[in-house]
Amino acid sequence: MTRIPELIDLSGETALVTGAAQGIGAASARRLAEAGASVVVTDVNAAAGSRLAQEIIHGGGRARFLPLDVTRVESLPETMARIREEAPRIDILVNNAAIFPTAPALETTPERWDAVLNLNLRGLFFLTTEVARQMRAGGAGGRIVNIASVDAIRPTGQLAPYDASKAGVVMLTRSLAVELAPFGIRINAIAPGGIDTPGARAAVAPGAVPARAMAGFLARIPMGRMGSPDEIARVVLFLASRLSEYMTGALVPVDGGYLVA
Ligand SMILES: NC(=O)c1ccc[n+]([C@@H]2O[C@H](COP(=O)([O-])OP(=O)(O)OC[C@H]3O[C@@H](n4cnc5c(N)ncnc54)[C@H](O)[C@@H]3O)[C@@H](O)[C@H]2O)c1
Repeated sequence: MTRIPELIDLSGETALVTGAAQGIGAASARRLAEAGASVVVTDVNAAAGSRLAQEIIHGGGRARFLPLDVTRVESLPETMARIREEAPRIDILVNNAAIFPTAPALETTPERWDAVLNLNLRGLFFLTTEVARQMRAGGAGGRIVNIASVDAIRPTGQLAPYDASKAGVVMLTRSLAVELAPFGIRINAIAPGGIDTPGARAAVAPGAVPARAMAGFLARIPMGRMGSPDEIARVVLFLASRLSEYMTGALVPVDGGYLVA
């Protein structure tokens, strides 16, 4: 029987994390690096992304920052070719980058809709297929972890385009699980509940989500608190490692019980 340290060991593997400059993406990059992976930290925020890569290197891990705007689908093949020069093989992809601007549905403009769907769903799909083609060509399989949301199942309010994008991510996870399994590529999704990140703090800042809605959200979490980015990162590591070897197409809620209450 393979022992736990071996099942979780990602030495010699390369992991690409999108939106990794802060929040859940940064926490995931740290944990993947701790498990031995060489991490390609990608984000549109070059300053914070580079800082994180340096932090990982100073802590004894392997990382590099590369700029990647997931919405720029047309330039993805070129960007990936550049990434391939430094990281010839990608074993793990964490699709984490997303935006979640709040607005009542009746005040949502086509521009707002496009901005959310272009990143959260369209960009995620084309990055995933680009990386999956490389994984297939490499012949060694791969693991993809999509960060969805509890909002894919239960709407928080004032997030209609986001909710639709995340429900789309859940279904893409299932569709691709079926198509990619023959190539040894597993793809699973996580549905985080309320997680204390810079993005979440901005969303609940005065003038964004009404305080009443936020209090209502917190009251519905059986564990009575928000989660930490690292509590999501640990499940990312689980899904990216051999601990989850027989899992594909799954949606794993990590939400303090929010979805069952
Ligand atoms: N925080 C929560 O409560 C929560 C709950 C459920 C799901 N999620 C999901 O978790 C993921 C991370 O959320 P977070 O709270 O850490 O977010 P965050 O806003 O704190 O961080 C998001 C990161 O994505 C980057 N980014 C933005 N646009 C990008 C683009 N076009 N291309 C590449 N990177 C881009 C940002 O620069 C930032 O570093 C998202 O998919 C989000 O939907 C978060």
